[in-house]
Amino acid sequence: MISVAAPGRVNLIGDHTDYTGGLVLPMVLERRTTIVGEFVDERRWSLVSADDPDPLEIDLPVVDPTAVRPTWGRYVAGVVHEFERDGRPVPGFVGRVTTDLPIGSGLSSSAALEVAVARVVGAAADAPVDDPVDVALRCQRAERTATGVPCGIMDQLCIAVGRPAHATLIDCHDLSFRSIGLPDEIDVVVEFVAPRALAASAYAERVEQTSAVESAIGPLRSATLADVERLEDPVLRRRARHVVTENRRVRDFVDALEAIDLPALGRLMTESHRSLSDDFETSTPTMDRAAAEMASRPGFLGARLTGGGFGGCVVGLRRK
Ligand code: GLA
Repeated sequence: MISVAAPGRVNLIGDHTDYTGGLVLPMVLERRTTIVGEFVDERRWSLVSADDPDPLEIDLPVVDPTAVRPTWGRYVAGVVHEFERDGRPVPGFVGRVTTDLPIGSGLSSSAALEVAVARVVGAAADAPVDDPVDVALRCQRAERTATGVPCGIMDQLCIAVGRPAHATLIDCHDLSFRSIGLPDEIDVVVEFVAPRALAASAYAERVEQTSAVESAIGPLRSATLADVERLEDPVLRRRARHVVTENRRVRDFVDALEAIDLPALGRLMTESHRSLSDDFETSTPTMDRAAAEMASRPGFLGARLTGGGFGGCVVGLRRK
């Protein structure tokens, strides 16, 4: 019998920067997805989920993850497929999935499931899976296949390498990462606000827009605000300004964490929210209100929308 788990994640700062090779600062949550089960001789994966009456049955080798039902099984099949297609043997498996992550709320329940599946594959004696960056890249490809959304690497890499109670600074260009302890003086507060609407199509549109920006002015990760001003299209200029200033905010946030400059942390979160709302336009009036309301509570330093946007969660920092 094996038991593996993978946590959800919340992003403290650095949203919509990963797919242009920028900086992100997510952290893993205590809530997690667990898979318990055993390897079997038959060439199949059978999983039951505590959150879905329909079981998942997939024959190995996986042929088309996008055709799998129930749909959460596409993440599972996608990860198995990523290992099988470069010749790594994946044994049959029968098990059960449980999670205390709210599903589809923007805390990366899908990436947690993907990394948990990769850990099941890694638990097979003849297929060691020990490079977390390799695991994250496979899981990212599986997510893209399962959903058709051209997501970045943040969620999967944070989940694959994150340490409890630490933020993970990731440079999404070279996939280097570093754990950063959070000051004892603060708590991170995460609250679900609203389901995400139109998130997939709007996300893909943002990826296209930033790619159009990069065709005009070169890599956003090294662009300056003067480069941004050269863009003629006002929408592309706003998108680019968000990314350039957000990368700067991630650096400043890390400095403020290390200097325990609590007011700076709050100010950067509030600025990040405003940039997501005004320039990147991934917020909604409901999310704007929720972030402002959280930031105004006694003891709160600041708050912002976290993740892909168009709903989901807000994250804030509170003095202990
Ligand atoms: C989603 C994607 C990530 C990242 C965030 C926005 O969570 O999966 O790759 O782009 O949105 O920061």
